[in-house]
Amino acid sequence: MLVHLGYTMTMKLQIIIGSTRPARKGPMVARYVEQIAKNNNKFTEVELLDLVDYNLPLLDEVEMPSTGIYAHEHTKKWSAKISEAQAYIFVTPEYNAGYPASLKNAIDYLYKEWGDKPAGIISYGGRSGGKNSADGLVKVLNKIGMKVVEPQVNIVRFTEIFDQNEMLIDDSYTISIKAVVDKL
Ligand SMILES: Cc1cc2nc3c(=O)[nH]c(=O)nc-3n(C[C@H](O)[C@H](O)[C@H](O)COP(=O)(O)O)c2cc1C
Repeated sequence: MLVHLGYTMTMKLQIIIGSTRPARKGPMVARYVEQIAKNNNKFTEVELLDLVDYNLPLLDEVEMPSTGIYAHEHTKKWSAKISEAQAYIFVTPEYNAGYPASLKNAIDYLYKEWGDKPAGIISYGGRSGGKNSADGLVKVLNKIGMKVVEPQVNIVRFTEIFDQNEMLIDDSYTISIKAVVDKL
């Protein structure tokens, strides 16, 4: 808990799982990131956000997201949740050289909520570690005014750092993920 001029300040980090398909590996990678973030004293709260829990249809609001005028309960719920945090980490796979449509849709729903807040990106994939996905996401996050921090972490052949029970067996990426958390 940070104390500033007699006030207590909460610093909340949300880790957003970008994929939504059944049997996805996103939560496994996100839990690894979550553990590292929880060991960092910077954030008073670290929350894992699963897009599946918000069940957002393809963007169905009439007004532009920048107005903050939302007709639907699912948008209001998503907006309220994202408004709680001061920083974010997007955990994303690579789907055909991009990031999942589920993640783009969830981002596009909102505007001011993302504000000029800091964002880190952890991608995972095969030989490139999801680098195409992360590069595409950087452009989008910059466009909505977020401050994307370095380093970019692309977890190469990510299945090899976990065992069959989804337990981490190779912590090669811990230092670079920690560096992202430190920069937020
Ligand atoms: C639709 C689709 C497209 C994919 N395209 C790529 C790709 O372009 N590059 C890559 O490294 N892996 C690709 N993969 C493999 C994913 O990296 C791997 O399936 C990963 O587990 C996907 O993340 P998820 O399990 O959280 O959905 C693709 C997977 C899917 C389902």
